[in-house]
Amino acid sequence: MTPMVKADRVCKNFGALKVLKGVSLEIEPGQVLCIVGPSGSGKSTFLRCINHLEQVNAGRLYVDGEIMGYSERHGKLHELHPRAAAKQRRDIGMVFQHFNLFPHRTALANVIEAPIQVKRLSRKKAVERGRTLLEQVGLSEKADAYPAQLSGGQQQRVAIARALAMDPKLMLFDEPTSALDPELVGEVLAAMKDLAAGGMTMVVVTHEMGFAREVADHLVFMDAGVVVESGKPDELLTNPQHERTKAFLSKLL
Ligand SMILES: Nc1ncnc2c1ncn2[C@@H]1O[C@H](COP(=O)(O)OP(=O)(O)OP(=O)(O)O)[C@@H](O)[C@H]1O
Ligand SMILES: [Mg+2]
Repeated sequence: MTPMVKADRVCKNFGALKVLKGVSLEIEPGQVLCIVGPSGSGKSTFLRCINHLEQVNAGRLYVDGEIMGYSERHGKLHELHPRAAAKQRRDIGMVFQHFNLFPHRTALANVIEAPIQVKRLSRKKAVERGRTLLEQVGLSEKADAYPAQLSGGQQQRVAIARALAMDPKLMLFDEPTSALDPELVGEVLAAMKDLAAGGMTMVVVTHEMGFAREVADHLVFMDAGVVVESGKPDELLTNPQHERTKAFLSKLL
C-alpha cells in the first residue's frame, strides 16, 4: 500500500537555523498520527513542509506517492509550476490554532467559498454539501451565523467543515484546540474523533494526550528537529524509552 504521507530524512533550515534535521515517518491511509514535542521543536514547520507551504532543504516528502512540490525525472527533482503545486495542496486540508474564518461571511459562506471558486462546484451543490458538513460537525443551526457570533469551539468546527469541503485525502491539524477555553476543547476533539472514525487520514499536532491515546494509531515525540521516539500511544505514554520523552511527558501530565 502507498503510504499517505512518507517523510524521508526531511531537513529544513531557516538561514543558519536547522529546524528539521532528518525527520522520517510514514502514515498509512486511514491512520491518525499525533505529534507532540516542546515549543520550537519543529512540529508546525514539519506540517507546513507536508503541504509544501515550506520547501524542504534535503530529504523527500511524499503525499500519496507524489513528491510534494516537485516532479521527478531520471532521479532529478524539478520544481513544479506554482499552479501545479497549488493543485497538489488542494487535496490536503489544514486546520490551524487560529481559525482564520472570513469575518464578513456566514459559517455556510465560509464553507462553500473554496468549492465554488476553486473546484467550480455549482452554488446549489456547494450549499448542499456545505450544510451536510456543518451538520457533521454539529453546527446545522449555525449556518447563517457570522464568526463573531460563534464561540471559539464553534468557529474551529466551521474551520474543519471548510477544510473538508474540498474533499481532502489528508487533514493536517496544528494545535487546533490550544487557543480554546477548556470547556470548548471537547466539542472540537469530538468532531475530529468522528472524522478519524470515518476513515480520514490525519496528522495532528496536539498536547491533548487523552485524544492521542484514544484516537491516534501512532504517536511521535519530536524534539529539536528530530523524531526522538515513536510508537503506539499507549506504549509511548506509559513506557517512554528516552529521557527527553520522559521529561517532556512528566511536565505535561
Ligand atoms: N519562517 C521562519 N523563519 C525563521 N525561523 C522560523 C520560521 N518558522 C519557524 N522558525 C523557527 O523554527 C523553529 C521551529 O518552529 P516551529 O514553529 O516549527 O515549532 P513548533 O514545534 O511548532 O513550536 P510551538 O509548539 O511553539 O508551536 C523555531 O525556532 C522557530 O523560531
Ligand atoms: Mg507550532
